[in-house]
Amino acid sequence: MSKPRIVLAYSGGLDTSVAIQWMKEHKDVEVVACAVDVGQGIDDLDEIRQRALDCGAVDSVVVDARDEFATDFIAPALKANAMYMGKYPLVSALSRPLIVKHLVRVARETGAAGVAHGSTGKGNDQVRFEVGTMCLAPDLETIAPIREWALTRDAAIDYAAERGIPIPAMTKKSPYSIDENAWGRTAECGILEDPWAAPPEDVFERTVSVKDAPDEPEEVVIAFRDGLPVSLDGRELPLAELVAEMDRRAGAHGVGRIDMIEDRLVGIKSREIYECPGAITLLTAHRDLEDLCLEQELAEHKRAEEGRYAQLIYNGLWWGPLKKALDAFMEEANSYVSGEVRVQLYKGAASVVGRRSDAGLYDFGLATYDVHDQFDQSLGEGFVKLWGLPLKSWAAKTGRTDGVT
Ligand code: ARG
Repeated sequence: MSKPRIVLAYSGGLDTSVAIQWMKEHKDVEVVACAVDVGQGIDDLDEIRQRALDCGAVDSVVVDARDEFATDFIAPALKANAMYMGKYPLVSALSRPLIVKHLVRVARETGAAGVAHGSTGKGNDQVRFEVGTMCLAPDLETIAPIREWALTRDAAIDYAAERGIPIPAMTKKSPYSIDENAWGRTAECGILEDPWAAPPEDVFERTVSVKDAPDEPEEVVIAFRDGLPVSLDGRELPLAELVAEMDRRAGAHGVGRIDMIEDRLVGIKSREIYECPGAITLLTAHRDLEDLCLEQELAEHKRAEEGRYAQLIYNGLWWGPLKKALDAFMEEANSYVSGEVRVQLYKGAASVVGRRSDAGLYDFGLATYDVHDQFDQSLGEGFVKLWGLPLKSWAAKTGRTDGVT
């Protein structure tokens, strides 16, 4: 009888590398490693695949999910202008449901009994991995070796040395805990845990500091179709490539650094540093185009739903029914959002300096104050009387004039 199989979300880093052996020893299972490329900058997929085998996995798969991440995860987040606490574009929170999807797929293909992840017990990622698995495969068990083991970095290195586990060469000591993908890069730990300490420059990889940013602004014209960016400066690009290029160009101007105190789902406040140059630029442009294209009531309701949408993604509910229902709403709203946005990248800021759209609701004849004005200003008189009528009745009745006599 062979042992039960567990599919581990494998990053190629120290923790998940030693987790393979630990699960074999402590859970009496075989481990299938599954690494997913979501644009975190893996040079060699084959090398990662082999590394997992060298660490003791019975099988090892790598998935190039860069396009899928863009079209099925970044795209809906962008349509919903999803920013947790109004600031964080959900970098890690977006990749977890995709990784879960592939873990479950591989589990089915290999007849595995469960899936495993390398998250600790203090963060959001454990929730996203496990609740995601509950949704897509309620029958599968989930194992969290790092949480159970309460592993420290030094202990992991000792454990690897004792058992002859090849520690990945890239395990050079970084003072930060990093997670990254095509939508951005996250950094925690080290000096960043002091919320008063300004982030040292060595935290950043995708953005230059504002003082090193070019003295000349750069303009980019982003075209959107049905709420998604389709070209940069007239050059059509698949979404994954467009996001990557936007990220490079905006990062070169220092756009997209975020320093925030974040409310984790598990109740802890944490200090987070993010770099999301492409995401911030695209979100800024998309929001602006919506302002031009969405009818007022729809726009207002959408803004209210966006916070909820971001929160549910942050909280690991990606595969649940509310997300699906809200997606239908976001999709419908975005069917109006086509046009172009001019964005200026300059000294850390992505600023919209122009927008136009055939679907736009801006009407020069109504908006202008010059001689071309077509708005019948006499309508204002009746409008104001009716708009203020409820308050006028209330004030007359109650006499509450806020102390003004
Ligand atoms: N605080 C962010 C989030 O919950 C980033 C998490 C980064 N994950 C990590 N394993 N370093 O989405």
